[in-house]
Amino acid sequence: MTSDSRGAQLKPKILVTRAVFQEVIDYLSEYFDVDSNQSDEVFSDAELIRRLQGKAGVYANPTNLMSAEVIRSAPELRAICNMAVGYNNIDVAAATAAGIMVTNTPDVLNETTADFGWTLLMATARRVTESEHYLRAGLWKKWNYDSFMGVDVHGSTLGVIGMGRIGRAVARRSMGFNMKVIYNNRSRLAPELEAEANNARHVSREELLRSADHVVLVLPYSKESHHLIGAAELALMKPTATLINIARGGIVDDAALIDALSAGKIAAAGLDVFENEPAFNLGFLKLSNVVLTPHIGSASGSTRRAMADCAADNLIAALSGHRPPNLLNPESFK
Ligand code: DGY
Repeated sequence: MTSDSRGAQLKPKILVTRAVFQEVIDYLSEYFDVDSNQSDEVFSDAELIRRLQGKAGVYANPTNLMSAEVIRSAPELRAICNMAVGYNNIDVAAATAAGIMVTNTPDVLNETTADFGWTLLMATARRVTESEHYLRAGLWKKWNYDSFMGVDVHGSTLGVIGMGRIGRAVARRSMGFNMKVIYNNRSRLAPELEAEANNARHVSREELLRSADHVVLVLPYSKESHHLIGAAELALMKPTATLINIARGGIVDDAALIDALSAGKIAAAGLDVFENEPAFNLGFLKLSNVVLTPHIGSASGSTRRAMADCAADNLIAALSGHRPPNLLNPESFK
């Protein structure tokens, strides 16, 4: 804390970029002079830069692009605390170069996000959204032996791309469905982690795409994972397979996926994330073999609150001289 001309202690100034639980704003206000945005205006870059002037910390979320330009325009900034596990909205290299700490919210959302991966998988495989639309539209006149036949989940092969904490939680849940698990990850897991993840077997990405009945994407977005699943990869998949994305938009080439779904190259997709969201490719709306949700993988009440608290605790630690629990760039902590 700094002092004013009369020696009174001044709290560090922070910006909370988007609306968040009021209790979290109250908690942060015990430590900081908070510039909040409870009306949830979406800031342009220019507005974000303007609001960051004089701020020591920013409580951000994936909708805020903390680019090198934004970071360099905020000379007093010491910490960027993201309310998300993913942090591809932040130029971490630029933050590190400027001596700014960056944090995320790992672990607290693993189980909730894995639950949601399964929600999408089951809904996609068994055509839940499509059949509900049919029912709501008053089209259900009689039972048919072949109405909305989907693909089985039990006894099938689950392919997980990105076997981090959330990927392993997705894999663990497959035990109850008597499934085989194959996975692809930058590095092979330790044998005890593979055992916990339903005896998951490490395979090449190509083998996974060729063999899995249900492919779930749970890897971080980066330059390397941009369009990791495009036309060539979709062509490797079985025509009966489903693709589930609970990771980030941009990992899948959405235009190529729309082509593959339209041509029946894969059976169906369940998507919680999109390229350029929320302005996603409207081609998806013309397809019946997709289940679409607006980036809600971690959205249970208790998990969103845990994420919000975690980001607040990181910011409080960072600006009171302590190492934040979820520091992503330890070089910035001095
Ligand atoms: C995360 O935590 O990264 C979720 O996707 C919410 O953005």
